[in-house]
Amino acid sequence: MTHAVSLTRYLVEQQRAGGLIPSQLRLLLEVVARACKSISLAVNKGALGGVLGTAESENVQGEIQKKLDIIANDVLIEANEWGGHLAAMASEEMEGIHLVPNRYPQGEFLLLFDPLDGSSNIDVNVSIGTIFSVLRKPEGPGVSEQDFLQAGSKQVAAGYCIYGPQTTLVLTVGAGVAMFTLDREQGSFVLTHEHVRVPEDTQEFAINMSNMRHWDAPMRRYIDECLQGKEGPRGKDFNMRWIASMVADVHRILTRGGVFMYPWDKREPEKAGKLRLMYEANPMGWLIEQAGGAATNGSQRILDITPGKLHERVSVMLGSKNEVERLRSYHEAAR
Ligand code: AHG
Ligand code: MN
Ligand code: MN
Repeated sequence: MTHAVSLTRYLVEQQRAGGLIPSQLRLLLEVVARACKSISLAVNKGALGGVLGTAESENVQGEIQKKLDIIANDVLIEANEWGGHLAAMASEEMEGIHLVPNRYPQGEFLLLFDPLDGSSNIDVNVSIGTIFSVLRKPEGPGVSEQDFLQAGSKQVAAGYCIYGPQTTLVLTVGAGVAMFTLDREQGSFVLTHEHVRVPEDTQEFAINMSNMRHWDAPMRRYIDECLQGKEGPRGKDFNMRWIASMVADVHRILTRGGVFMYPWDKREPEKAGKLRLMYEANPMGWLIEQAGGAATNGSQRILDITPGKLHERVSVMLGSKNEVERLRSYHEAAR
């Protein structure tokens, strides 16, 4: 008889076998998973739980916050403050870093998160998620924002939880990608997919086409060639999906391949892109790479970018390796 493998057991086995997870990191991931369970319950209650709609506030990015953005942020902070595994946290919804209060022991890790990704989908009952990234705090006393400004290649764990028809936690600690589905009766995440692989080729792309007129030439060239289908230079037809929740688009790509793009565009030329490097692009980029895909900003591997600030933005192209390479080469050819 085979037994279901819980997230707890998976993490214990990773700790034993690969020595990949020190016990503080194991605790951290368990706590993040527990917080996601609680966010999942709030999401499921929807209007019955009074969690839909807009809050009366703006975040540091100048975006109107939804009630659930704030609820999810509070749940993650409250869950992670007291365990002794963290030195500090950073979130899309908070301007500065959040230190672990003095009354609790300080740990050696830093946690970054997008508490609720896909906010525009909350009220319309479409999949949303939580994205997280874990870094090690550099040696030395205290903790500052500077300690967070590490390239994505320094991540020690990353993942997301998607609140869709199923609630699924997707995780990497640097030894491939594993997926855990929430068993609501048991109240635990159960391993449902290991050694996730993104096919190297795809005929499916994800981009917000309404921004086409604002893109730069290499981006237009790539999409234009896809749209020409069988009769064009690519010699094959392409399909398109755009969910407007990065978690949901990335989850589809991890499941059946594809390429996701949110490129720089002319609407706000001084911004590198819409998505945030440290708690959106880095964790998703690492997951995709761990599954055999690639992630670039057009000129550089996302994980090699050294962030200049906490809420830094970045142009994002990630997914099936050969498509991402093609995008990179079109950008290179245009320089
Ligand atoms: P968030 O809800 O955390 O602000 O992120 C939304 C992001 C991302 O999830 C999605 O891919 C993209 O914004 C959608 O943007 P458009 O509405 O411009 O298509
Ligand atoms: Mn987001
Ligand atoms: Mn968000």
